[in-house]
Amino acid sequence: MESWSPIFILTVPITVVVIGTTISRIIKLIISSSWYKRKYAERQQRWTELTALVFEPLKRKLFADLDENLKRLNGDVLEIGIGSGQNLHHYPTGTALIAVDPNPHVEKLLKENLRKAGDRIKLKRFVAVSAEDMSYKEQIGVEDNSVAAVVCTKLFCSLTDDQAKKVVQEVKRVLIPGGRFYFMEHVAGKRWTLQYILQQLVSKSHFWPTTHNGCRCDRETLLWIEHGGFTKVWSEKSWPEWKLFAERASYDCFTRFKLFLINSMLIGYSEKGQCTEERKKEL
Ligand SMILES: C[S@@+](CC[C@H](N)C(=O)[O-])C[C@H]1O[C@@H](n2cnc3c(N)ncnc32)[C@H](O)[C@@H]1O
Repeated sequence: MESWSPIFILTVPITVVVIGTTISRIIKLIISSSWYKRKYAERQQRWTELTALVFEPLKRKLFADLDENLKRLNGDVLEIGIGSGQNLHHYPTGTALIAVDPNPHVEKLLKENLRKAGDRIKLKRFVAVSAEDMSYKEQIGVEDNSVAAVVCTKLFCSLTDDQAKKVVQEVKRVLIPGGRFYFMEHVAGKRWTLQYILQQLVSKSHFWPTTHNGCRCDRETLLWIEHGGFTKVWSEKSWPEWKLFAERASYDCFTRFKLFLINSMLIGYSEKGQCTEERKKEL
């Protein structure tokens, strides 16, 4: 048998690397384009509406005492990673809202949804920035100790570890002492179940992050929040009965597969402590 020429042996790995790098560059270029961001915002809105049957009960539980807390602190709500505003109907009448999302294309969809909500909610401002730096520069951004509640749903799955830590610190910075951070996130499932293995596979292979704007299914989000220095953290992990709703709403196979992957849900809140004299000096 003829031995393989050294040129051939060298050409194969070089070609694989060049093709791989080119494909990855093209994907990055597409993902960073304005066209993709607009399409993603629209797609995200459709997905949340499609799966509302599955996740709405969790949101109702999460926001059950939001009204009471806002009244107690008499402050605004800041929603980070707000997208098209799929939580607006959970906000009490009279809510003053600050909306943050780095994707400028969500603003149009958000304003359409705010119009539908009538005058129940007043949008104070929409700021197109990332939540890891919402500092108050030239009237844009969010001041220290200025909001009664921070809300985020399905954001942490799209953040790197470093971003997640910064976001938690920013949340703490902007909350009024006694204010609450409400979160609902899909996170990694129970270890070594089929769901967990598939979550690891699609995330670590970059398949899911590439096709879902950086989102991962293998996040342990609670750890970041628990280590965020809040005085109180309450959370609950659950696996909503998505199969029942899938039948009722005739979801297709792809939707069912996606639901299976993200169906390990974390809801909870964390609280920034009341302001003691000692704490005032720290803030
Ligand atoms: C999966 S969508 C969820 C949208 C909405 N919260 C919901 O529950 O339907 C994630 C949103 O977070 C936004 N996002 C991504 N990275 C972010 C960051 N670093 N800071 C704030 N928002 C971010 C995206 O633009 C997108 O609108």
